[in-house]
Amino acid sequence: MKTDLRCRDLISDLDFSKEEVETILDVAFDLKRKRALGEPHPYLRDKVLAMLFFFSSTRTRGSFEAGMAQLGGHAAFIESRTTQISHGDTEKEMGEIFGRYFDGIAIRHVDWGIGNRYLNLVAEASRVPVLNMQCDFYHPHQCLADLMTIIEKKGRDLRGRRMVVSWAYASSYLKPISVPQSLILQMPRFGLDIVLTHPDEFKLMPEIMDQAREQARKYSTGFEVMDDMEAAFKDADIVYAKSWGPLLTTADPEKGKRIQDQYTDWITDERKIALAKQDAIYMHPLPADRNIEVTDGVIDGPHSVVFDEAENRMHVQKAVMALTMS
Ligand code: CP
Repeated sequence: MKTDLRCRDLISDLDFSKEEVETILDVAFDLKRKRALGEPHPYLRDKVLAMLFFFSSTRTRGSFEAGMAQLGGHAAFIESRTTQISHGDTEKEMGEIFGRYFDGIAIRHVDWGIGNRYLNLVAEASRVPVLNMQCDFYHPHQCLADLMTIIEKKGRDLRGRRMVVSWAYASSYLKPISVPQSLILQMPRFGLDIVLTHPDEFKLMPEIMDQAREQARKYSTGFEVMDDMEAAFKDADIVYAKSWGPLLTTADPEKGKRIQDQYTDWITDERKIALAKQDAIYMHPLPADRNIEVTDGVIDGPHSVVFDEAENRMHVQKAVMALTMS
């Protein structure tokens, strides 16, 4: 167990070693048990987390805020548009100043080409940990909750399990590519064979793909890329199918939408999920475009673990906060 996580940032999925992620998971399972038993666990009494949002959220805000209260501290919800950032507060000023008020700074900034840079610049200037609540490249706390959920459903020994990370059609907006990128980086370290599938225009960042392949080589796991949703689903143990924008092809939202609209048949429905193993689990970080990205029958059906996955956001984030902010 690695216990020297105090004051560490979590911005990219690989910021914590495999052993450190195992520590996070151990603590998260303990905190989940304590909450189930009603045992108080005020490890962050009198500590305050700043939660700076440049984009909307349901789960991330709710789980960080509830988590901080359960740890005996407080979370301050700050929407960027209500601050002076648009009037000149720089990343350095935010890091320096919030680092003096707060015990941790959590940030969501998903603007393409801007978000990750923003978090890193704040972190450079901050004396307290910076936690990534989702940027344009990574969604590490979502990925930790996903890993915790997979372990709950499939056990600790995941070697040989087939995890499909699939693009899916959505009509609501061009979603960030951070979730699939985090998944392909983190999951090979825990033994999962990754099958990534998407139409050609929905490629992930080449440097992330290289890092993911390197992780798969290091941990001797499978890493396959294809452009066929049905072939990918065949015999899968875990189906993680969600939409993301064609950001590497075009950053123009209208052009992106036109590309996306060619692939309306990339929906997770009852016929496709039946191609996976009988006990396969269906995962999605939510929100999902119901009956567009995934049918009601699948997301509300026996394969779906989406509510446990959403709950686990809170437990893993409490573990990260307790270990980095204490
Ligand atoms: N999964 C997730 O990050 O949800 P929110 O966008 O609602 O925070």
